Amino acid sequence: MNDPVRDTPLLFTPIQLRSVLARNRIVSSPMCQYASDDGGPEEWQLVNFGRFAMGGCGIVFGEESAVEARGRKTHHCAGIYSDSHIPAYRRITDFIKSLGAVPAIQLGHCGRRASQHGPLKDRAMLTEVDAQDNMQPWQGISPSPLPPTPGGAIPREMDASDIRATIVAWREAAQRSVDAGYDICEIHGAHGYLIHQFLSPLSNLRSDGYGGSLEGRMRYALEVVEAVRAVWPQDKPLFFRTSAVEGAGGVWGIEETLALTRELKQRGVDVVDCSSGGVGGDGPMPGVPRVPGFQAGYAREIRRDTGMPTVAVGMITDAHHAEAILRDGSADLIALARGLMDNPNWPLHAARELGYADPLSLIHAREAQRLRLLEQHSKEYPPGIAVEIPFGPEEQVSYSWAAGIAGPRSAL
Ligand SMILES: Cc1cc2nc3c(=O)[nH]c(=O)nc-3n(C[C@H](O)[C@H](O)[C@H](O)COP(=O)(O)O)c2cc1C
Repeated sequence: MNDPVRDTPLLFTPIQLRSVLARNRIVSSPMCQYASDDGGPEEWQLVNFGRFAMGGCGIVFGEESAVEARGRKTHHCAGIYSDSHIPAYRRITDFIKSLGAVPAIQLGHCGRRASQHGPLKDRAMLTEVDAQDNMQPWQGISPSPLPPTPGGAIPREMDASDIRATIVAWREAAQRSVDAGYDICEIHGAHGYLIHQFLSPLSNLRSDGYGGSLEGRMRYALEVVEAVRAVWPQDKPLFFRTSAVEGAGGVWGIEETLALTRELKQRGVDVVDCSSGGVGGDGPMPGVPRVPGFQAGYAREIRRDTGMPTVAVGMITDAHHAEAILRDGSADLIALARGLMDNPNWPLHAARELGYADPLSLIHAREAQRLRLLEQHSKEYPPGIAVEIPFGPEEQVSYSWAAGIAGPRSAL
């Protein structure tokens, strides 16, 4: 006999995170859009993130949103560094919620990876020539005056007041995220951005209390978490994105990540989102071969060792693979970025592949109703059936949208 609980794919089993219930375990991963002017999201983001909620994701992240204007990578990065940004974010969260998904924001600060062009221009550094196009270069900040890539721009070394000011900025951005209606907040601690720059001994050469030992290098990250947790509501989950291993140098590996995770847990982080790379090596994200599920092993290790719930992300595009990662206890959530860009209705298709009882229940009733008819017509007239299409009024047969053609093939 069918047991609906046992037979429901884990991918489509709701998950409770504090008071927030996500309808399934599919997360649209944070994705920078480079589509903002002065921080706030635009129509582009409403449509782009909205389509992932329409497609059936349980949790929909926006993009990395900078907590300070100088913490953006480019002039077109998003940010939530002013109260004036709140209404535009609120419009997106309202829409995502109206579609049954949980809106999530990723807060970030790029530190020394500032003052660039976007990916379409290979992230080239801004110059005085760009200033003529209203894109003034600016100096990034970082724990140590080291360029992000060999030959790159030297950031200003942060002093104690910079550290304090940025931590206030993280806290204020978290408060604005509450006001904008977000239910999940993620702190971006990965990919070679400011928090990661403090964590890595390749980018942090400080000799004060924010550098040196692992404990010192973790201090900034943990102070940010404490500041955010202080204003982020107790009944809402806090995520932290980590680079579980670094691409080069062997200076940060899973042992360091486990130590960090234990500290995060004590400070009220609920989920670790397991990415990799960002400091060291030739490019911004070196090191780990991009095979399917290339970071899922990190999620498993962190979950097993620390008991911290995890997100697995990275080249997970196959529904059975996603289900297997959950079933073997590697992760609690599965995030997709490019797979969803390729197919925003990925959750619906995954539900069909995994035999979920009612895949169309994942999407809005207006769309589901039409797609049920599409399914019905496809069953009535499978490919290969020859059907004569009427051309004149006298040849027409009576037709009902709900019931199909009366006496389908008898009229032929
Ligand atoms: C267009 C694009 C933008 C991204 N922006 C962010 C971002 O803002 N923050 C972040 O942590 N990761 C970002 N990522 C990384 C993704 O969240 C994800 O971890 C990565 O693409 C691997 O997942 P995938 O193989 O499913 O694409 C971005 C990826 C893409 C494709």
